[in-house]
Amino acid sequence: MIATNLKIKDGVLEFAGFSTPALARKYGTPLYLMDEQRIRDNCRMYQKAMTEFFGEKALTLYASKALCFKRMYEIVSDEGLGIDVVSSGEVHTAAKAGFPMEKAFFHGNNKTDEDIAFAMDRGVGYFVVDNVEELYAIEHIAERKGVTQKCLLRVTPGIDPHTYDAVATGKVDSKFGVPIETGQAEEFYNYAAALPHLEIVGLHCHVGSMVFDEDVYERTAQIMLEFMAKLHDKYGFVTQFLDLGGGYGVRYRESEGVVDIAYRISALADFMKELAAQLNIPFPAVLLEPGRSIVADAGLTMYTVGSVKRIKGYKNYVSVDGGMTDNPRYALYRSQYTVFAPERMEAPPTLHCDVVGRCCESDDIIQPDVWLPELRRGDLLAVCTTGAYNYAMASHYNRIPNAPIVMLSSKGASVAVKRETLDQMIKNDA
Ligand code: LLP
Repeated sequence: MIATNLKIKDGVLEFAGFSTPALARKYGTPLYLMDEQRIRDNCRMYQKAMTEFFGEKALTLYASKALCFKRMYEIVSDEGLGIDVVSSGEVHTAAKAGFPMEKAFFHGNNKTDEDIAFAMDRGVGYFVVDNVEELYAIEHIAERKGVTQKCLLRVTPGIDPHTYDAVATGKVDSKFGVPIETGQAEEFYNYAAALPHLEIVGLHCHVGSMVFDEDVYERTAQIMLEFMAKLHDKYGFVTQFLDLGGGYGVRYRESEGVVDIAYRISALADFMKELAAQLNIPFPAVLLEPGRSIVADAGLTMYTVGSVKRIKGYKNYVSVDGGMTDNPRYALYRSQYTVFAPERMEAPPTLHCDVVGRCCESDDIIQPDVWLPELRRGDLLAVCTTGAYNYAMASHYNRIPNAPIVMLSSKGASVAVKRETLDQMIKNDA
């Protein structure tokens, strides 16, 4: 099986020890299922590797954008991680969940004045400043509030992480951060260092998502450490925090590789310690910001089949009761997924089809070219590895309400996000 939390028992797909058809019957479809223990195990794997190889000051920040709702923040807080937040919505959700906001890092390339003030009022610990205009906006708001705001500066190291364009963010021409190569990052530091209400405590970069290449983080770290050495030697600046972003890839299909993240962290730590010693700079507290690799394999989506259309001599379509509204990733990135018929896991896969959603759009495809057993209206389908960037990117296209999230743990199944109702859909219509 593609992940260890998936099993087959009596021909039925089990997820996190629960019968998936039984959950679909109880909660209805479309339905997101989340395996709480898997989220916790992923958090622990990161935090253990980070402190073991980088030392006690190292911290893992969960990148909220991958999946954000109150229960997620309770779990992440329990596990001792910090968080990356990018909007007032994420700040609000975390604060309402009782997350210790001093461990929150506020990212984003266009924080509005309202966002900045809101985050300061909620006690967000660190701002990751994206650009010069934002730097001055944060300074003015901190001055008005009479506070000193801790900040990291986001710079672009000029690394191509060899992933899809939509998620490659570390290149010089990226919309995020200030480039090192052009000399602008050094200017950025100088502007920041002169501001009395900001305390510049570190540097941040993020090169991309779904990163599999072996040496991407080493190459990134090299550029960052050399930049740190320059600021150290020229201006005496000590980088306390070096945040290298998120991005480790996960496996969506059996045929794909698995990144041994703990091993990669140990190799990265060895490389960085040696280079920092050569450059003669103090070793910083290293931060990583995984999103996908914390939640992707902890999620699974259940659907009910509505029709099986066989176009003679052409192709077959299996339509389900969800689609690009709950999972836009195939439409956006041609992302791969593994699809099962969870009630008949041992039946021969004789139906070659595209699994498509219910939206009025031809590209509303969950996954093309899938082999499944013969299906008919009322049968269930399960799509694996949907924990990251599915619910988080859900839309209301065609006025389809958002699906609920049911959290599975040793204590049982419980609703963490309720199914949206039709009345909730129109509540803001004047
Ligand atoms: N830190 C920053 C600054 C980021 O921009 C991101 C992701 C992360 C951390 C977490 O990266 P991860 O570990 O999840 O790869 N919607 C796309 C993914 C967009 C990623 C955006 N930034 C998708 O569905 O593939």
